[in-house]
Amino acid sequence: MKTRTIENPFTLVLFGASGDLAWRLVIPALFVLFQKGHLPDSFHLIGVARSEYDASGYCDHLVGFYGDSRPEEWPTFCEHIDYLQADPLQHDTYRQLAERLAGDHKNLDTTDEWIFYLATPPALFAPIAERLGCFDLAKNGERVRIVVEKPLGHNLASFSQINANLLAHFQESQIYRIDHYLGKETVQNILAMRFANPIFEPIWNRNYIDHVAITVAETLGVEKRAAYYEHSGALRDMLQNHILQLLCLVAMEPPIAYDAQDIRNRKIDVLQAIRPIRPEEVYERAARGQYGPGWINGRAVPGYRQEPGIDPESATETYAALKLNIDNWRWQDVPFYLRTGKRLPAKVSEISIRFKPVPHRAFPVDADQSGQPVRLTLQIQPEESIRLHFLVKEPGMPLRLRLVDMRFDYARTFHHELPSAYETLLYEVLAGDASLFMRADQVGAAWKLVQPVLDIWANTSPSDFPNYPAGTWGPESAELLTARDGRSWLVPMLIQSEEMRQ
Ligand code: BG6
Repeated sequence: MKTRTIENPFTLVLFGASGDLAWRLVIPALFVLFQKGHLPDSFHLIGVARSEYDASGYCDHLVGFYGDSRPEEWPTFCEHIDYLQADPLQHDTYRQLAERLAGDHKNLDTTDEWIFYLATPPALFAPIAERLGCFDLAKNGERVRIVVEKPLGHNLASFSQINANLLAHFQESQIYRIDHYLGKETVQNILAMRFANPIFEPIWNRNYIDHVAITVAETLGVEKRAAYYEHSGALRDMLQNHILQLLCLVAMEPPIAYDAQDIRNRKIDVLQAIRPIRPEEVYERAARGQYGPGWINGRAVPGYRQEPGIDPESATETYAALKLNIDNWRWQDVPFYLRTGKRLPAKVSEISIRFKPVPHRAFPVDADQSGQPVRLTLQIQPEESIRLHFLVKEPGMPLRLRLVDMRFDYARTFHHELPSAYETLLYEVLAGDASLFMRADQVGAAWKLVQPVLDIWANTSPSDFPNYPAGTWGPESAELLTARDGRSWLVPMLIQSEEMRQ
């Protein structure tokens, strides 16, 4: 199998072209791909939005915004840009779009690839897909793709509805569902580390691993996203998608080939093997929190309920933790603890694989004073690294064992800048490789898994909110989640190493 490149001429139709997602992430990613020479000579971007521009006005706006970086390349990039000022709900928009897509070819008879990127609110996914279908713009499964982003539903039922609407006009193989975590270099590297090396796989199982802890912590609060976040909360916003994707990559079986179907089959196997959370278990296996006022990096910050646009009695969780078990041969009895929260002490995402203690302790009990488990840490951000923490003998007498750190840092090893997640994902969409995108059955399985927790949380108002001050590691109930099993969360490695440097 060869790695795919972007070879065919294409037109990227960007709905929501004047919105935040297009502006901040999609267009800059396309520009970088262009500037790095990844795009074919013949490509077009057609921005579709209601905002009043024509093609040159839209380009001027872009250049005004981004043109300081590589100013000499923007004029050539802009030659590829067109703009259609139109309402995505109006049928006439699609007639005009069809004309532009056909170009000189009659009856849309072109061999170009078309990618419809829906950088719009999810409420527009169904109407846009339906109209693309009506105007015959969706039907060529080989060369037409559609890209959508989260939130993909609010629960299992609404996801199924969105999905049915897309599938009414597009085949599954044409639908690229973005989870931007899958575009991060370090996330992709989980598979390379596990399956390109012979040394990890033999110990990657219940015989050697005690448990796995995944932390995705943010210092940011809700920012200006009150309207979205109040109806989402941390479980929907981060755990149902990004963190479960990380779990799948850590827990999946080796794929036969690095290809979209095979990788996604192995991931769905994991999701289906996760023990369902019964309603009566929710309080043992899940914890929720909401930040109150506190301090982050020496700055006083308001509590969630005091943020603009937030209900002063909001029951939305800004922190969520789950304990999951995977009922299969490899992972039986190895818990996976997952946690995420806003306004925690640091922005850090890491996966910590904790190994079991040695079967027999030959060293004197007081020789090991580290008190820390031997473990492998996959740091996803902000410093991308892999670290193995293991015990060695400290020089000198008396005998002392100490935990040391063997590490691989992306930045020190590779001296070029890592591509952004959107750059990678857009590349893969244009190359037609869906390995890094979520298949419908995965998204459905992830919703099914968290649904009992969402239901119980929705039906019981949290009497202790706010239950963690901003700038702390979350509520006590999350500590209990691990403590009940005689385990604990660890302060992420990044913070520990910063403390060591001070
Ligand atoms: C998004 C969430 O999907 O991921 C945000 O909606 C969150 O709430 C963001 O802040 C985190 O992404 P990253 O790449 O900064 O870890």
